[in-house]
Amino acid sequence: TRTRVAIVGGGPAGLMVAHLLHLAGIDSVVLDNRDAHTISTTHRAGILERDSVRLLVDSGLDRVLRDGHRHEGISLRFDGTSHRIDFEDLAGASCWLYPQTDVFADLHRARTAAGADLRYGISDTEVADVLTAPTVRYSDADGHRHEVTADLVVGADGSRSVCRALVTGATQFFREYPYAWFGVLVEAPRSAPELIYARSPAGFALISQRTEAVQRMYVQCDPGENPDDWSDDRIWDELQTRLAGADGFRLREGPVIERTVLPFRSFVQTPLRHGRLLLAGDAAHTVAPTGAKGLNLALADARLLAEGIERALLKNDAAGLETYTDRALDRVWRAQHFSYWMTTMLHRAGGESAFDERRQLGELTSLVSSRAGSAYLAEGYTGWPVR
Ligand code: DHB
Repeated sequence: TRTRVAIVGGGPAGLMVAHLLHLAGIDSVVLDNRDAHTISTTHRAGILERDSVRLLVDSGLDRVLRDGHRHEGISLRFDGTSHRIDFEDLAGASCWLYPQTDVFADLHRARTAAGADLRYGISDTEVADVLTAPTVRYSDADGHRHEVTADLVVGADGSRSVCRALVTGATQFFREYPYAWFGVLVEAPRSAPELIYARSPAGFALISQRTEAVQRMYVQCDPGENPDDWSDDRIWDELQTRLAGADGFRLREGPVIERTVLPFRSFVQTPLRHGRLLLAGDAAHTVAPTGAKGLNLALADARLLAEGIERALLKNDAAGLETYTDRALDRVWRAQHFSYWMTTMLHRAGGESAFDERRQLGELTSLVSSRAGSAYLAEGYTGWPVR
């Protein structure tokens, strides 16, 4: 097959690039070794920045406005007391609770309805000749080899990217953390109108939401934790302990319907371009989960990249591809700092001194009592403007 753009990776980053290119009249082929059902049922984060919602709506995907929930703030909870951060008042913006699985479903439905060439469930994918005439070779479900040639190839193949390794001479930046998240889906009503980010002597907890009847929650845990060791009782115990306070707040409990341990690391590779190969989303960078920046960065990459590709292929002007790395990484490093900052401000590293502990509470107290401090959180959470 011959196409203009071969997109390796059919998650939100790859599908959004394909969707935006289609709207500009540019054809693409999307390839992914997972099947679409697996992606659509893999639970990831649930918060969209203001401009992520704008991108969805402006590109014709407006279900988020009906099925999503606008959140005008969050609650920071420490020392057993909740403090509201009012995004509308502080930053003039909101975010939306709309899970990544829904973003994927919307993109997948739109691409399918437009008759897109989507090849899920393939294997042994190889990308070659990215400096000259990019070619992707793969095996279909019956073991037959196929070849797709293109003008450009987009590596949107996630945190275990094969495309990433083709950027010869790239620099990689890493940071690891001494903890992980234990994530659960529970069948219970909401416990609070907005998300709660809680710091307690027992560690961090995050109370998020999915629907009227299903909630998403996370507790800080050991990276080596085995999800099967956690009974429902133990999970609720850990959660209640971390949310407890003099105000008597209690989470509303119910059966745990899914449990996973989420890895926790920060990663950036640069540059994002090597000849005719361009990286986007988790293939290029991974953020710590606190603050839900991962999907938002992937969508921001897709938007910049689609613009650059349009300009290159329709106007024969490579400027947008040449500036892609710098423009994308400007946002990525802000998000890296934001996620790192939210993380270290709210988690217990283990083995910290009494000084470190009080300093952390000092930081939280000054944040919630300063309009400037709270505004910084509100701006970062709802997202930096497109530039
Ligand atoms: C969710 C995940 C996050 O990492 C976060 O900061 C907020 C919400 C979620 O899964 O809902």
